[in-house]
Amino acid sequence: MAIELYATAGSVEKDLRNHVVIVVDALRATSVMVTATQNGVRFIIPVSEVEEAVDMARQLGNQRVLLCGERQALPIPEFHLSNSPLEYTPEMVAGRVMVMTTTNGTRAILRAKDARSLYLGAFLNAAAVARAARESGENIAIVCAGTNGKFSLDDILCSGAIISRLLELDENQYLDDLARTALTLYDSYKGDLRASLAGCTHVERLRALGLEEDIRFCLQEDVMDAVPRYVDGVIRA
Ligand code: MLT
Repeated sequence: MAIELYATAGSVEKDLRNHVVIVVDALRATSVMVTATQNGVRFIIPVSEVEEAVDMARQLGNQRVLLCGERQALPIPEFHLSNSPLEYTPEMVAGRVMVMTTTNGTRAILRAKDARSLYLGAFLNAAAVARAARESGENIAIVCAGTNGKFSLDDILCSGAIISRLLELDENQYLDDLARTALTLYDSYKGDLRASLAGCTHVERLRALGLEEDIRFCLQEDVMDAVPRYVDGVIRA
């Protein structure tokens, strides 16, 4: 079996219909979705645009819908929750429906939606998402959301973490060149992920906005078992 890695959703040119896909936006969209799923959200509807999110919430038309997300890491006016995983507590999300739009993460999920199976990965659930993907027994493509169409080191390190867990389950797997690179980077940086990400564009943007605690939270490894899965427009455990 093979593991391929794509640095951005836009760089995926092949048909993913025969692949199990794991979308990664470690800072912060998939970390938010993993946390919300772990904390009991009913389901999440990812959409590309703010207006679509508002329309969708209106169509769903009930008090239990939460409008969630960000633009350029900032809260969206009138939305209930931003893209900080710290806000997605059990008290806030259990039993509720989220409609979510983010700058890169939700768009990457929607671009990969034709995959045979589509899971969401983060450092938080690296081992759990690796197990879910491996159980399906197909070739795996990990698709990073990236940042504004560009390579983002946080996603690559997170992919390296997931690849290391996949190899623990089965060491005989073909890795493409980028998957190898991600694994090597992860192996050399895993002792201090926060320090290794210093200076990276998105990390520094979050720091400048005072979101250091979000970074710290998202870099915790294997602390959640939830594996969000996208099926027919809806993400649930
Ligand atoms: C995104 O989807 O672009 C990110 O999750 C941005 C963020 O950290 O808010």
